[in-house]
Amino acid sequence: MAESSFTSALSPAASQANYDPLTKKLRAGASYATTRPSEDVDTSDRPSEDVDRSDDFPTSFKFGASIFDAWRRPEPVARSDFPPSFKFGASSSALQTESYATEGRRGHCTWDEMLGDLPAVHSLILHFLVQDTTKGPHSINKQGVDFYNRLLDELNHNGIMPMVTLCHFDVPSALQKKYNGILGRQFVNDFNDYANLCFQLFGDKVKHWITFNEPSVYCESGYQYEMTGKDEPAIYPYLAAHHLLLAHATSVKTYRDCYQKQQNGKIGISLVTAWFLPYSGSCHDIVYLDPIVTGDYPFSMKSIVRDRLPQFSSEEKKMLEGSYDFIGVNYYTSRYTRALPFSPNDIPVSYAKDQYVEMLTEDKDGVPIGPQSEGMEFMYIAPKWLASILVNLKTKYNNPLIYITENGYPQLIQDKTMEEICDDQVRIDYIKDHLVSIRTALREGVNVDGYFSWTLMDNMEVKGYYYTIGFGLHHVDIPNDFERFPKKSAFWYRKFLSGKRAPLLSEPIIAKEPIMEPINAKATV
Ligand code: BGC
Repeated sequence: MAESSFTSALSPAASQANYDPLTKKLRAGASYATTRPSEDVDTSDRPSEDVDRSDDFPTSFKFGASIFDAWRRPEPVARSDFPPSFKFGASSSALQTESYATEGRRGHCTWDEMLGDLPAVHSLILHFLVQDTTKGPHSINKQGVDFYNRLLDELNHNGIMPMVTLCHFDVPSALQKKYNGILGRQFVNDFNDYANLCFQLFGDKVKHWITFNEPSVYCESGYQYEMTGKDEPAIYPYLAAHHLLLAHATSVKTYRDCYQKQQNGKIGISLVTAWFLPYSGSCHDIVYLDPIVTGDYPFSMKSIVRDRLPQFSSEEKKMLEGSYDFIGVNYYTSRYTRALPFSPNDIPVSYAKDQYVEMLTEDKDGVPIGPQSEGMEFMYIAPKWLASILVNLKTKYNNPLIYITENGYPQLIQDKTMEEICDDQVRIDYIKDHLVSIRTALREGVNVDGYFSWTLMDNMEVKGYYYTIGFGLHHVDIPNDFERFPKKSAFWYRKFLSGKRAPLLSEPIIAKEPIMEPINAKATV
């Protein structure tokens, strides 16, 4: 079974027709799950080759089922598979969607500096930033406040629950210049002041706050090399992470002490995740998750990083412990991992090297972890591992409340016609397959309460892709006055959501994948 990891996503016929083994990519125009007969009923069971119990296996051979068998079942995914209170939506970020840094007194943030002053799309968004970065953290941008008040009123008026991220990589450049941004201890208080301001100004309209988006991306990518220009990759990511965690915990404390009771909201953080095979059992953001659950860094991290890792005081540990009402999970792809040799005498090189792990996209037979996406070469589509992440979070962290705050498909849009861009069947398949994975997790008792597709509309993509790819449910025709066009996926999503509601199906799951021991998680809200 050379196609083992593909059989879960592609039927043999589809895989032969659409997958090019030489380039290890989908053939042009191929959707990775093309065998489905209709848009809203997914009846493909993604069969592997025929096998026979009596011919192919000894009589003593043991068979069981893992949670992944549920994912393989030919059951269509429907709105009714999710509890009525389950939230569906689409996410976006101000930096990637809103405007030039010079417009509306937004001011520059560190990402503008890396990317240049690019046009972005004016739109309704669900994640945003409010501050006058031209003046510094203690000033209020009246224009921004008015804009977001109107936006929030409009969303609430239309029955859309806003879930707001306070910082999606967009730390003001002014703070970067003043004290090296997040590398400066002062960032903790400045972020807390800014968060306090947002709770005060918008807390009556916002019931879900996210302090930071993907801290690991910000601290690791930003502070290993790119942001500082200084070569301290074995130190800066830890310092940045340390301050970010304290800024998170301090603002959660502020919210809980001063606002939560009257405003009746929740607060959490969004972490990027990936499932690692075969040595798995760990989520990518354990560096961030363990401290906010237990109040300290994981033992493995402390023992490798040793004196390069800043320490929390006992008061800080107390503040960090349990500093979340929910965990946001961003999921795009997964990886195979291979351990690298470790010696206590190794000279520290970088944050990445400290992990002593090599991340691979293919297994030992050269089979990719999933089909490669069209628009981002490193993004392999691997929906079933989302269930593993969610079950692992449940087991290890005392079943926290979870929202899938980002999950989306990068579509190549450069040099394509409007018709080609809007015909995004591949995105529909992508969303469906991830919903199947979430359904599996729900049946395993995971406390997942919402799914947000990244992103509402094509926007400026980070990592140098700019406007060449689109994650959107809608396309934005930038040269033609930013006109928006719903893609096929937007229509599908609407139809899916209007499906009848029914109780969650219960299905027996016989055995589970091995997962890690629970750590001492403190129950929160
Ligand atoms: C980030 C988004 C980004 C998306 C796709 C996520 O990690 O939060 O800002 O657009 O990935 O690359």
